[in-house]
This record gives sequence, structure tokens and C-alpha cells, in this order.
Amino acid sequence: MPKPTILDNIDEIKKIDKSNMLSFCAQAPKHYGNAAKLPRQFKISYRKPETIVVAGMGGSAIGGELLKDWARDRMTLPVNVCREYHLPAYANKNTLMFVTSYSGETEETLSVFLEALKRKCMIICISSGGALTEFAEKLSIPHVLVPRGMAPRATLPYLFLPLLRILEKMGLAPSVEAELSETVRVLKQVSLENSLERPLSDNLSKKLASNVYGTVPTVYGFGFYRAVAQRLKTQFNENSKNPAKWESFSELNHNEIVGWERAKEFAKCFSVIFIRDAEEPNEIRERIEFTKEIISKGAVKLSEVWSSGKCNLARMSSVVCIGDFTSVYLAVLRGIDPTPVRTIELLKERLKKTGVKDKTIRELQKLAKT
Ligand code: PA5
Repeated sequence: MPKPTILDNIDEIKKIDKSNMLSFCAQAPKHYGNAAKLPRQFKISYRKPETIVVAGMGGSAIGGELLKDWARDRMTLPVNVCREYHLPAYANKNTLMFVTSYSGETEETLSVFLEALKRKCMIICISSGGALTEFAEKLSIPHVLVPRGMAPRATLPYLFLPLLRILEKMGLAPSVEAELSETVRVLKQVSLENSLERPLSDNLSKKLASNVYGTVPTVYGFGFYRAVAQRLKTQFNENSKNPAKWESFSELNHNEIVGWERAKEFAKCFSVIFIRDAEEPNEIRERIEFTKEIISKGAVKLSEVWSSGKCNLARMSSVVCIGDFTSVYLAVLRGIDPTPVRTIELLKERLKKTGVKDKTIRELQKLAKT
């Protein structure tokens, strides 16, 4: 293992983090503030939907997953995420469809966009350019244009907060103003505490990265931290180029926990990160403590990330921010530039030969002409 003290060498970190992924983590409060303002001038004349679907893949889907958790005890309409080529059968003219693709070029998302047009869903597109922006404009579909030039996963605030703002505007979600201001305040503190300049001895993200180094980090969330756990896992994948897993309480107590009965045999392979909350329900606390006892019998490395803030949005975002920093520090420990995702690009290139995306574009062109 490289010496964890590399995480105190600012020049070395900057050398490895060539495209400066760390700056997006450090500037999270600024991006959250800007993203919250994005759909301010946005006019929507859609009627009240019966269902809400957010379509997207990878870094463009996680905003929808976070929305789903956030909405659970606040919105009466069902929110689902579609990470597929095809829409669920129930999606129809009474469905509000957010189609999100940072590049605007992802074939699954374009395919779902086409289906949503055919089914006359009430569509809102979110992208930074590409075919999605082009066809949204040609077809006069409401569209949120997000800033260009970032990695999709680094634009999470721009792909997540507009969803909240639009739903608020449509009267489908309660006011988010107070939650947004608290979230920005909390993120200022979190990004300071986990910054590049803050030494390893006093920096949770740097410590977490050192703790999970060389293992498959397994992230356990619960309740509205379900998608947060998923986000941490995907950031370990894409930024740190590290396999990772995620699960959520209490479901994991009905299967995953049995897999730890002989934890010793896996101690070298896995580490576990528990997402914690000062106000977690008693039954969840009990479940977490019991699960920790079972896993620690095998000397598996355990860590905890406690959320900060009062409102759900701040709590969720505080853990997301710590996870983002941790994934970059883990990349640094591994000597890997966090930004490029070469394998995803290679696959997208290879898929061109199937002709699926070209066919979708041709159909979109036809629709745009009629
Ligand atoms: O983070 C990434 O780069 C990926 O997960 C992408 O978000 C994913 O491949 C989908 O691309 P896009 O976000 O451009 O639709």
C-alpha cells in the first residue's frame, strides 16, 4: 500500500488528479447554490400528473434516485427511475417524464425519450447539449440546459436540484427554499473539513480512503440514505476505478448479513462503510449495531459516516459530499486520475455497431419534421 501520508502532499494529489475532480467536491456549495437557481425562469404548462419517472443512466440517473428517496415522505405521487432502454408499461400521457443525460448522447436515454414522445408523456429534458438538447429544442420540449465541460457525475447538483425546483413550481412538492439554504450552509462546512488542505489526521474522507484501500468497499445506507449509499458505490467505481457494493437496511438484514457469518474468510477483500444519522430510528440503530458485531468478528475493516444538518436534503448531501471526496482520495492512493472513464467510453463506441442509437436518432428526426 502507498503511504497514506501521500494524502498530505498537496502537489502530489494535484499531479494525480489531473482534471481536478477535487475542485468539484470543494466547490459543492457553490454548485448547489447555482443549480438551485437554474430553472427559475422556467415556464411549465403541464397539468397535474399521476406518476413521475426520471429517465437517465449512471451519473445522470442518481439525481432521480435521490429524488425518489427525498420524495418518499413528502410527495403523494409515485416517483420512479428508469435506467433502461424502455419505459415501464404504465408510463402514459399522465406521466411527468424527466429525461436526463448530461452529454445528451446516451442511447438508452434517447430511446426512452423517443418512447415518451410517442406515448405523449409530459416531458422535461435536462442536458448540457448533444442530441437530447437538439431534439428538445426542435420539438419544443421544456429543457433545462446545464453547464458544460464537467464529468456527468460531478454535475449531480445540476441534475438533481432542478427536479426539486420544477416539482415545487408545479405544486407537486413542498417549498424547498429553506432546505436548499441549509444544504449550502452544511456543505460549506463539510467541504472545508474534507478539503485537500486539511491533514489526514483531521480529515474523515482521507481516513476513509486509507481504510478502504485495497478492498471492495461495501456501503450500507437506510431510509433516505438508500440512494446515497448507491452514489458512494458508483463514485468508488468511476472516480477510484475500484469495484464496490451497496445495500440498504433493513433489507440487508434479510440476506446480506448471512453472507458475513464467516466474515473472516473475506476480511482481506471487503471493507464496510455504515451511513449513520444522529436521529436514526431505534430499530435501525439496533440493526446497524448487530450487523457491525457480526461483521467485526471477522476483523473486516469498518467505518462510519455520520450525516450533518437538520433537513433531509442537507443530511443526504453531506454524506454524498464526504463520499465524493473519499472516492477522489482513494483514486490518489491508487495513483489513478479520477476523471476519465475510459471503459464506459470504449463500450459506448463499440455499441455503435448495433445501430440502435442511429435508429433512434432517425426516428427522432422524422418526428421533428412532422
Ligand atoms: O459518470 C459517468 O460518466 C457515466 O455514469 C455517465 O453519466 C453515463 O454513462 C451516462 O452518460 P450521460 O450522463 O452523458 O447521459
